[in-house]
Amino acid sequence: MPLLVVEDLTKKFKSGLMGPEFTAVDRVSFTLGEGEILSMLGESGSGKTTIARMILRLLRPTSGRILYKGRDVWRLRGREVLWYYKEVQGVFQDPYSSFNPVHRVDRILYRVLSNLRGLRGVEAEKLVRSSLRRVGLNPQEVLGKYPHQLSGGQLQRVSIARALLASPRLLVADEPVSMLDASTRIDILNILAELRDEEGMAIILIGHDMSLSYYISDRAIVLYRGSIVEDGDVDKVLGRPLHPYTQDLMESVPRLDRKWSKGRIRIPYTDAAPATGCKYRARCRYAFEKCSRDPVMLDVDGRRVACWLYEGNSQK
Ligand SMILES: Nc1ncnc2c1ncn2[C@@H]1O[C@H](COP(=O)(O)OP(=O)(O)OP(=O)(O)O)[C@@H](O)[C@H]1O
Ligand SMILES: [Mg+2]
Repeated sequence: MPLLVVEDLTKKFKSGLMGPEFTAVDRVSFTLGEGEILSMLGESGSGKTTIARMILRLLRPTSGRILYKGRDVWRLRGREVLWYYKEVQGVFQDPYSSFNPVHRVDRILYRVLSNLRGLRGVEAEKLVRSSLRRVGLNPQEVLGKYPHQLSGGQLQRVSIARALLASPRLLVADEPVSMLDASTRIDILNILAELRDEEGMAIILIGHDMSLSYYISDRAIVLYRGSIVEDGDVDKVLGRPLHPYTQDLMESVPRLDRKWSKGRIRIPYTDAAPATGCKYRARCRYAFEKCSRDPVMLDVDGRRVACWLYEGNSQK
């Protein structure tokens, strides 16, 4: 049984009381295995954070289901909810806004242990120190300080340490390194990869940076306007992308051997979102008649791809 099964997950937002509905997440389905690192990629507004918040039980889906270890996450009651919060933890982009600024780091960390695991005293102290060391921090340096007295990198490590105190099996990390410098970024990603290797933790990693995703992920999901366009092994999806959007995304990554020149990297942008059919067709260089019909997920070359171009190559 997969650790997490997401089925037809949909989130609609209303703008204003009577305003039109906007579909931020559109029938998204995927699975995640134990100890797997899955990258969720896609441009700004593609629905990544919305999916993460629904998985973390911070935002109720409009429709669809999220099953964790076979249980419907949004139907958990009482003690099951506490169990879920221990098993599934989140780490967010801005560590400064994810901590209460008037509480010292110690208090923040001890609270997780007493609330979620009922642990206090010497045992709690040991765990706090070991989880800080686990993320490369010297407990003496951070305990007793307020969040604003730490650097962004230190604080992001503290937020991972805080998540680890719950001893989760799944970590949902929404752009955990996007505010950090390059070497701190790699440090933090290495810690995440170690958690997968040594403790078998599964991780959903959200971000924009394809090379960072490639570095530690096993799988990648690419989203476009709330829908999955490609899902599979990271070597396939990012190494040999099939969906025109994934190809365009890869093309848009600046490289050190490529200088700007007029028109060199250009992804056609349009705000026009077709109401039916493939949402990317307004920007796609391969668009043809069939694209006005809703794409179906095709199994092609070991990954799932939602593009009519591959209809003839599908194994299904
Ligand atoms: N609470 C909300 N009310 C209304 N619309 C929302 C709400 N939250 C998100 N949205 C909209 O849903 C869409 C998806 O947003 P989301 O934050 O999930 O994107 P994202 O992929 O995480 O983007 P980014 O890469 O910029 O973080 C956006 O168009 C956003 O404006
Ligand atoms: Mg986001």
